[in-house]
Amino acid sequence: MERPYMICHMLTSLDGKIIGDYLREERTAAFIQEYENIHRRYGCKAWMCGRMTMEEHFTFGNQLDLRVENIPAIPRTDYVAKTDAKTYAVAVDPSGKLGWTTNHITDKDRFGDHIIEVLTEQVPDAYLAYLQHLGISYVFGGKDSLKFSVVAEKLKRLFFIDNLILEGGGFINGSLLNEGLIDELSLVLVPIADGASRSLTLFETSFHLKKQPPTHFFLKSIEKLNDGGLWIRYGTTPDRQ
Ligand SMILES: NC(=O)c1ccc[n+]([C@@H]2O[C@H](COP(=O)([O-])OP(=O)(O)OC[C@H]3O[C@@H](n4cnc5c(N)ncnc54)[C@H](OP(=O)(O)O)[C@@H]3O)[C@@H](O)[C@H]2O)c1
Repeated sequence: MERPYMICHMLTSLDGKIIGDYLREERTAAFIQEYENIHRRYGCKAWMCGRMTMEEHFTFGNQLDLRVENIPAIPRTDYVAKTDAKTYAVAVDPSGKLGWTTNHITDKDRFGDHIIEVLTEQVPDAYLAYLQHLGISYVFGGKDSLKFSVVAEKLKRLFFIDNLILEGGGFINGSLLNEGLIDELSLVLVPIADGASRSLTLFETSFHLKKQPPTHFFLKSIEKLNDGGLWIRYGTTPDRQ
């Protein structure tokens, strides 16, 4: 299967948490900036996040009112609005909940990245009509549930994406880990222990994901960051540098 090389790039506390109070500590701001710098250093054509992360950081909870009558049935075929974008933002949104208002990211660090929605066929017709109206691309990853190997193959074939950065949260990371699709892990380690016991970690499973055997990683490099942080890179195969 032809698919993009996938790098899971995340910032964590010393105790592996991806959310929590440590993110609001003054010291952490510099590590969050470093996280963005490393994202740029990778120079990937696309990045991917789950619906919760997109909602928190990029659509800010905006809700759509799609109670429009007489929407014609729209076939469940992929919709490519743009193939010449410099960079793409891939949003995993199985039932079509994200309230985008433009077809690109407006955040200053990611401005202009063309949005591709990853959907299941259960999405309402009104949402598909809305995406087409805004010029947002979408691909289907399954009828009722998502198969990320299918999604990855489509991203490569339809948008020519060779390298993709997977950037959380824990559920989307866990989903791709489960399917054996992560080639590299890039961790920005913040030298703070969060201490919360009920919190999200790097890879989570959910009721619809069967836990797979443990995944082995192999060290590629370590770089010291200012103020005691680390940038650690692992591969999932021993020989790939
Ligand atoms: N520290 C970091 O580097 C970092 C990076 C990114 C995010 N975060 C944080 O992580 C938190 C969100 O993480 P999260 O794990 O709760 O959410 P998430 O992975 O961002 O999104 C989860 C949602 O994505 C969809 N999804 C994910 N896997 C799926 C699958 N296999 N099949 C179908 N749908 C799937 C579902 O959407 P539906 O609910 O619509 O079905 C699911 O609820 C946020 O607070 C964010 O700030 C931290």
